[in-house]
Amino acid sequence: MIRINSIKGNNFDAKKCLLRLDLNIPLSDSGEILDDTRIIESIPTINFLQNQNAIIIIISHIGRPKGKFVKDLSFSNIYKKIEKLMNKIIHFIPFEEQNNINKILSKANPGEIYLLDNLRFNRGEEESNKKFIEFLSSFSDIFINDGFGTIHRNHSSITGIAKVLPSYGGILLEKEIKDITECLRYSSNNSVAILGGAKISDKIPIIENLSKSFNEIVITGGMIRPFLFASGKIVSEGISSYTDEVRIAEKILKSNHKIYIPEQLVCSKNLNSEPTLLHCSQIKEQDNIYDIGPNSMMEITEKILISDKIIWNGPPGVFENKNFQLGTKTLIMSINQSKSKIKVAGGGSTIAAINYFNSNKNFTHISTGGGAFLSLLEGKFLEGIEVLKT
Ligand code: 3PG
Repeated sequence: MIRINSIKGNNFDAKKCLLRLDLNIPLSDSGEILDDTRIIESIPTINFLQNQNAIIIIISHIGRPKGKFVKDLSFSNIYKKIEKLMNKIIHFIPFEEQNNINKILSKANPGEIYLLDNLRFNRGEEESNKKFIEFLSSFSDIFINDGFGTIHRNHSSITGIAKVLPSYGGILLEKEIKDITECLRYSSNNSVAILGGAKISDKIPIIENLSKSFNEIVITGGMIRPFLFASGKIVSEGISSYTDEVRIAEKILKSNHKIYIPEQLVCSKNLNSEPTLLHCSQIKEQDNIYDIGPNSMMEITEKILISDKIIWNGPPGVFENKNFQLGTKTLIMSINQSKSKIKVAGGGSTIAAINYFNSNKNFTHISTGGGAFLSLLEGKFLEGIEVLKT
């Protein structure tokens, strides 16, 4: 059990609390917030600190501006929307005012909330350099990390500052770590991990680690084709399809007997063409796999319904397209119906699918992390967690 220094039971009265959130939220081209989960999930920690009369200085990144000011990636564009979603008053500190922060905070009242502009406008954030860490600590008494989605990064505002200030984990961070690690540790003879995504190379360490604690690993999404080819089930393709991805899939299959690969698939030439239901032995080079067919989904559903531990990352199909969404819809419905003790899901497109089908009620945990969630599934050593341990 990982134990981090919790904010609960501590007193932050009138303390300047530097609160790291993950406000790296998806925005539309016109700047609309497409998914507010990370904002909403940060409210309990903010409420906790406000109730204690702390002065809250929120810090976060958004996007990847690479150490330069990028107007579109300034929190100035969205802090009013964040205010509304949080139902709080936020005092925004623009990037050009950043160096006056001590002066600004000298007038701060207990319970007030400040938001610094995008951390990644400063090169020192991602470089985790001493100067930027000193800057962050120059106006704060306490560091609280509640940005679970960033816990796999070794940046100034995550690991650097935690080595300098008294540091704690926020309510969301604690829950994420507890629910995900408990899922991995829970011992069960009926458990299934459903994994999608396009790049197999990214998934090798995850498949290896999950094989230790799950009975079966179901392959979905973009990984299906190389796995089918590697297992000799797509017969029509020639040597040109023998890619690195296929070689990796071959290696995984040789050393891992717990892999299930769906064989009935919904295919098409492109996303605008008519879908065709094909058995993998019928698939030709020009057929793209865009979803899992009903027979294979039935087999996956059976696995889900007998499991008492389920973890899911990566939608089975292109769920935004009505021709290729049945697999994802069925998967979510099966997880909802299952009586499993543990039902954990995570990752950007997985959350998008759950929200698309308006179906977040029956999971025991939905992670706000993308890379951070996958790093935990991989069993990786994460310094961001290590620095907060008791
Ligand atoms: C995320 O969205 O996964 C986190 O905010 C980390 O963002 P990054 O991949 O740009 O570091």
